Amino acid sequence: MKKMKAVIPAAGLGTRFLPATKAMPKEMLPVVDKPAIQYVVEEAVSAGIDDILVIIGRNKNAISDHFDSVPELEVRLRQKGDKGRLERVTKSSDLADIHFVRQGEPKGLGHAVLRARTHVGDSSFAVLLGDDLIDERDSLLIEMIAAHERTGAAVVALMEVDAEHIHMYGVAAVDGVHVDDGDSVKVTALVEKPNAEDAPSNLAVIGRYVLPQHIFEVLERTQPGKGGEIQLTDALQELAADPDGPGVVGVVFRGRRYDTGDRADYIKAIVQLAVDRDDLGPDLRPWLKDFAAGL
Ligand code: G1P
Repeated sequence: MKKMKAVIPAAGLGTRFLPATKAMPKEMLPVVDKPAIQYVVEEAVSAGIDDILVIIGRNKNAISDHFDSVPELEVRLRQKGDKGRLERVTKSSDLADIHFVRQGEPKGLGHAVLRARTHVGDSSFAVLLGDDLIDERDSLLIEMIAAHERTGAAVVALMEVDAEHIHMYGVAAVDGVHVDDGDSVKVTALVEKPNAEDAPSNLAVIGRYVLPQHIFEVLERTQPGKGGEIQLTDALQELAADPDGPGVVGVVFRGRRYDTGDRADYIKAIVQLAVDRDDLGPDLRPWLKDFAAGL
């Protein structure tokens, strides 16, 4: 099997974070001291992927600058002998082979993924959405790649969510039969952002996918769906409904996920990640306890 590439759609407008995202891409918002998108790139790299395509829109040059080197700064830090900071600066440019393509018009996630067709070529590929951060101690993407290699199916990551939040996600109907020994289930249907009453289950699609190359053909003919956008969920529904294909498999994730797409969740993600860190946790934990006691 060829080495897998990853696609990171990052063309969204980030309207929920205005005015912070007026001139800065939401993917560059810091989560503790790293831009959100760097966590996602690091996750792909930890799963063995070293070729990453980021789908960007207008106003997103800060993303490509971040993954480029900054010779002036590196020389200065080297002269000062500041190895720690030098390492942090060079890490993002040494991580992987990162490419960029523009989406043009923002016509939805399915359309953004379709923009990766030429770069991806004829192999399967992973898609990672930047709003969902998966804790580096959990190996979701590795499990998904393994499930794809075993079954040939499109693989989605599923997570149980409360009824009040289900309308924000693609939702899967599953047949309950585990397709292998892991936590993988057969997905029989997918629906984008249903009302709680119409949701086929409480299993939401979170932002990780391992897709066969065939998805591009399906996306080419996928008509605008929810919100007038070309939805990746609708293309996956077509694969799930095809009795002759390998279908769609869901890997049920029960690990640590941080949602940075919503303001309150973004703040929670920063606190959770900072508290767990050796350099910040010891200072923050007692302060948080006192702060919470005073609420
Ligand atoms: C997208 C997908 C949705 C998925 C979600 C995961 O929606 O369309 O199916 O459940 O990501 O975060 P978005 O959050 O971009 O509106």
